Amino acid sequence: MKRVIFATNNPNKLREVRQMLTDIELVSLSDCGITEDIPETSETIEGNSIQKARYIYDRLSVDCFADDTGLEVDALGGEPGVRSARYAGESKCSEDNITLLLDRLGDNADRRARFRTVITLIWDGREHLFEGIVEGVITHKRHGEGGFGYDSVFMPDGYDITFAQMDAASKNAISHRGRAIAGLVDFLRKAVK
Ligand code: IMP
Repeated sequence: MKRVIFATNNPNKLREVRQMLTDIELVSLSDCGITEDIPETSETIEGNSIQKARYIYDRLSVDCFADDTGLEVDALGGEPGVRSARYAGESKCSEDNITLLLDRLGDNADRRARFRTVITLIWDGREHLFEGIVEGVITHKRHGEGGFGYDSVFMPDGYDITFAQMDAASKNAISHRGRAIAGLVDFLRKAVK
């Protein structure tokens, strides 16, 4: 069976991709002995995704992929964007990030936003990028208990509930990451045929 490394130790992300990719053995970072934090110093989501995939490839020379996600809010000039995880500081606290986001948006009527994920796959030494986007709006306050990150203040277009009020399967079916993963899975299924 073909092996590919997913540059993550996040069990939720691993499970999500494993469920969609039964013909490929998916290996996590800790499975292949990489325990250090992978540098993410780029100014763009694409750049960080490419940087993380190259970091693994340069060390192990094996097929691998990495993802990076950001929340882009139009009225804030695309912030928090590439800084989504650390918006309110290095502690990566989601509650603080949401508080800062709602403070900065205030009563602004323009609440358009999108989540954007870019996955970089290095396959047989070549780089392939897969993007997934979900458009929506930032709510005025938190709604729902599920999910993580900014889920409680993001309402996807076509819904009147936030990601935090959806069950995981419904969110994955329309989410940025779900869409990027679908592109990756489609490529890999054809590649291993
Ligand atoms: P990462 O690149 O997947 O680590 O995502 C960076 C940051 O974006 C996370 O720390 C979260 O704050 C936010 N984020 C990513 N995906 C989601 C999501 O599906 N819902 C809410 N927030 C997310």
